Amino acid sequence: MAYNGQIPGPEIRLKEGERVRIVLQNRLVEPTTVHWHGVDVPNPMDGVPGITQEPVQPGETFSYEFEARPAGTRWYHTHFQEHRQLDLGLAGPLIIEPAGSESFAFDREYTLVLDDWATGSGPALPSTAEGAAGASGGMTGMMGRGMMHRGMMRHSHAPAYDTMTINGKAYPATQPLTVRRGERVRLRLINASADHTHVIRLAGHRLRVTHTDGAPLVQAVEVDAIPIAPAERYDTFFVADRPGAWFLTCAAPGHARAGEQVLVVYEGHEKSVAEPIAEGVAGLGLWRYDLGRGVDGLPRAWGQERVFDLALSGGMMGSDFWTINGKRYPQTDPLVLGRGDLGRIRFSNMSPEGHPMHLHGQSFRVLAVNGRRLSHPLVKDTVDVAPHMGSATIEFTAHNPGDWFLHCHKSMHMEGGLIALARIR
Ligand code: C2O
Ligand code: CU
Repeated sequence: MAYNGQIPGPEIRLKEGERVRIVLQNRLVEPTTVHWHGVDVPNPMDGVPGITQEPVQPGETFSYEFEARPAGTRWYHTHFQEHRQLDLGLAGPLIIEPAGSESFAFDREYTLVLDDWATGSGPALPSTAEGAAGASGGMTGMMGRGMMHRGMMRHSHAPAYDTMTINGKAYPATQPLTVRRGERVRLRLINASADHTHVIRLAGHRLRVTHTDGAPLVQAVEVDAIPIAPAERYDTFFVADRPGAWFLTCAAPGHARAGEQVLVVYEGHEKSVAEPIAEGVAGLGLWRYDLGRGVDGLPRAWGQERVFDLALSGGMMGSDFWTINGKRYPQTDPLVLGRGDLGRIRFSNMSPEGHPMHLHGQSFRVLAVNGRRLSHPLVKDTVDVAPHMGSATIEFTAHNPGDWFLHCHKSMHMEGGLIALARIR
């Protein structure tokens, strides 16, 4: 399944504050909707079937109209049976350029959409339960723990992912990125995968993280590699100061071999041969949430403070059931807030898998992870809650009225019930 016949869908570029109308013509043989992930759209434009709109039937048209904000690397994707439709290709980048100036200068930019595929053409890769953990902590042993659990932990119904792509292609089919010596090259990394965390690195170069889910940091953070959970985005740049040809790859076990590699080639070095790089994260300086200092651009709250404790469970013995406070959606309790309230959510993860939790309609601050406060909260729209008793506390101003989904972005977890509604009145 594709948007305008391409995977990922065409990059939509907007200016912050611009009004936009995007017309969805459903030429699939089944219903669909589009969600504008990370954009503060009016509730009826949010694309959640049965909640914010009726599913768009085959042959029907639906016009999405909204103001493009906040600025940053956003994305769009189907919200109808994601566990099928997202896996089949219905996702694309949505870039909102700031109305003012960019917080970090750059000379050239590339958008890289990372995706996982179950094609049935090769051996299955470890699932996230076994492979990489996220940037919220719990890094240690991430590459080791897996081997033991392989097979044991595999979900009965989880697709067997065997192929990893960058902008819809698996290496060697990936399109090389051209750079010129001396440039600052911006990379917008979008993880459109249904299940996997990717750990992106560029041989011979360090990456500087500048934005978390589109929101700028006070200062760029220099790292060797960036773990990116499903639905997360990181903007990063590197300084092109080592002419040659280099691999940009994912360090998670098996991902590079499954296709997640692209060449970065300096002009004039088209004939250089890039050295393959070893997988794994041993010795690498990895991005973590507590390394960043977010710029707090969120609206100020004017209402009351409301605190919600959400325990995420499920997945025991390979089950496909996932719960919030013991209940599966639609039985989960809604989070009820008044407009302008300050909502605080404390997630604790009692399960063996990480949960990238996404709130629709408004971004939030990440205040703490795994019991540690961040000195300067990050602004994000998706927070990866680490497995095995990991935790995260987020805070948001309930400025956008409506019924908003709050859910794990791993499609099978969502399908298994890991969803609640935030009801802002
Ligand atoms: Cu990108 Cu409901 O999510
Ligand atoms: Cu999950």
